[in-house]
Amino acid sequence: MLDLSTLHSVVEQSYREFGQAPGGANADYIPFLANIPSDLSALAVVTANGDVISAGDIHYRFAIESISKVCTLALALEDWGAQTVQQKIGADATGMPFNSVMALELHGGKPLSPLVNAGAIASASLIKAENTEDRWNRILGMQRKLGSPQIKLSSPLNESEQSTNFHNRAIAWLLYSSGYLYCDPMEACDVYTRQCSTLLTTVELATMGATLATGGINPLSKERVLSPDNTPRILADMTMEGLYDTSGDWAYTVGLPGKSGVGGGILAVVPGVMGIAAFSPPLDDIGNSVRGQKMVASVANTLGYNLYKS
Ligand code: DON
Repeated sequence: MLDLSTLHSVVEQSYREFGQAPGGANADYIPFLANIPSDLSALAVVTANGDVISAGDIHYRFAIESISKVCTLALALEDWGAQTVQQKIGADATGMPFNSVMALELHGGKPLSPLVNAGAIASASLIKAENTEDRWNRILGMQRKLGSPQIKLSSPLNESEQSTNFHNRAIAWLLYSSGYLYCDPMEACDVYTRQCSTLLTTVELATMGATLATGGINPLSKERVLSPDNTPRILADMTMEGLYDTSGDWAYTVGLPGKSGVGGGILAVVPGVMGIAAFSPPLDDIGNSVRGQKMVASVANTLGYNLYKS
């Protein structure tokens, strides 16, 4: 049994120690993100029982960015099952940056992972949908079911991303030319860009983690969102590629499935136990929140949660 007062003090202590740790810089290739105050910082845990523990700027709504890839992957798995997703997108690490074209070139145009940009654009294209708005609404619906009904698109962020996403548009066309894109390429890129442009709180992010930790039941809404067969696949993908080319370092030092976004969010999942989420905008060179990694690692290490421990 988890002792809630211990949990409270571990979250408080980790936030106090690492919430303003030095280093890193805001993402600046998306103009909206460059202007977010760099000193914002928050840490939250949501347990499989629905207990919520948090510290810092917990009401601030930040950009989900790449963490949205987990939600779209979840929907693709619900729509098609694990085998089809593995065959049409892949389930492996690229070992390369999140927007790498070279990774595509080296693998016959196959994205390999649903958690890099190419694989996430392919996942968005794979979602069963009547048209663009249906595709978008189904993906947003999955973010809300996993996290919170308050998750919404930010129009200024979406406009900032849509007007600078030329590299992702090129990736969509490359996928199309190699047969790994399953709807109109510009529709897939548009919807992928929107899915990155929603805003959420650190507690809502931790709730997504808790929903994955329970095998697919959101512990706050009590709704079954995912089939229990699909959550181990999502957690495996997060382990292999959740922090991009430093996923191995994360597994080595923290030992939990994780996912980061260039908005400064980061999520880790302790299967059966909890989601741990943190937010702070300054990123390392790979695109992972510097303070977020330290805060999440501190909670996991202090509580002794590591999947590879006996
Ligand atoms: O596609 C992009 O470049 C962004 N919308 C999201 C990238 C991202 O968050 C990578 N993460 N660390």
